[in-house]
Amino acid sequence: MQTVKIGLLGCGTVGSGVARLLTEKVNEYARRSGYRLELSKILVRDRDRSRPAGIDPDLFTTDPAEILEDEEIQIIVEVMGGIDPAREYLLQAIGSGKHVVTANKALIARHGQELFEAASENEVSLYIEASVAGGLPIIQTLKRSLVANQLLSLHGIINGTTNYILSAMTDEGREFQEVLAEAQAKGYAEADPTDDIEGYDAVYKLAILSSLVFEQPIQLKQIHRVGISRIASQDIAYAKQFGYVIKLLAIAKQENGHFQARVSPTMIPVDHPLASVNGVYNAILIKGDAAGDIMFYGQGAGSMPTASAVVSDIINIATELENPPNTLMASNHLGDPVNLGPPDSVVNRYYVRVLTEDKSGVLGQIGTLLGREDISVHTLLQRKADPGNAELVFITHPVSDQKLRQAIAQIRQLETTQEIYSIIRVEDFVE
Ligand code: HSE
Repeated sequence: MQTVKIGLLGCGTVGSGVARLLTEKVNEYARRSGYRLELSKILVRDRDRSRPAGIDPDLFTTDPAEILEDEEIQIIVEVMGGIDPAREYLLQAIGSGKHVVTANKALIARHGQELFEAASENEVSLYIEASVAGGLPIIQTLKRSLVANQLLSLHGIINGTTNYILSAMTDEGREFQEVLAEAQAKGYAEADPTDDIEGYDAVYKLAILSSLVFEQPIQLKQIHRVGISRIASQDIAYAKQFGYVIKLLAIAKQENGHFQARVSPTMIPVDHPLASVNGVYNAILIKGDAAGDIMFYGQGAGSMPTASAVVSDIINIATELENPPNTLMASNHLGDPVNLGPPDSVVNRYYVRVLTEDKSGVLGQIGTLLGREDISVHTLLQRKADPGNAELVFITHPVSDQKLRQAIAQIRQLETTQEIYSIIRVEDFVE
């Protein structure tokens, strides 16, 4: 049986899971693939740091050249994270004809085009399944199993930290800061949680997914981003009253010939399948023109779920070593960025919560300002707030972001407006 040698760059949470699978399941993988996969070397920063049991310490090296310049190593696996030096290492590996697997979403979202171009030129494979939503097999599914479809839309809960926080706020009526502190104590949120709670992590993943949906690259700055740090338990309570739950939703879709890509807190109907995805779980709903709706649910992070995606990529590459590289994998990452169309081409329904003075004429003024922008109100609720004030909550009919922003700017300027608390998208999933 032919042996395929593998070099691993990084041995943190994901890397140690990959090393464990490749060590423990070597016979199983040989039976399935017809190749003996041999983990040859592991690049680490510190050889003496303690590692999970079962990883041969003789494999560790602190010298990247020992892996990148080893002619016998055919597949390089990058699980170190960060842009530099991961990018240089992968370009060097590709340049010397090695196939590459990476779990690095930020690297692919920022430099995917450069890396896929290099892989195409050097006729090697670059596989990225683990870069999005850990254990969910979404990339290969979109690229291969759904290749017969035009992908019409993708709606995803692709950040476990924010889903944990929103789920706890919904179930227990607690405020964001309190739940965040608890998530940090349990290890579900980082000490600096900005990437997760402000939506940057989800934007990286959506950049990769939307290039598959749109069949063209997208630049990070083209993706509209709003985090969850301003969501209050009061918004969640109103959402419930109106029949919705709030999720940090990543959306890539085509509507009326225009593309949109956004990550934002979104109210979704309480009976929609994505509404029951709670805790740290991820889920992605795809609509293909032939296949219709398909939903994936599972663990989007963690050592073994992410290692599952990485090692599946390694096995797939091993079984394709005798063939020319699969051109399907690179195609969506090459060429000009997608054209998202003019800002008023996309319309959504919105929930707005405003604190106003409670006196005659206020409702009329706000109604007039909305009407001036041609914004029609679908649902309206007014509730007594602190003395002299009232909380006004309304959900609009579909309106462009631009028109909503203009109306909100004018409402903000009214003397009677105390505060605009929240503006949250509403997604009803109607065609
Ligand atoms: N921080 C991410 C999450 C996992 O909370 O889903 C890694 O992408």
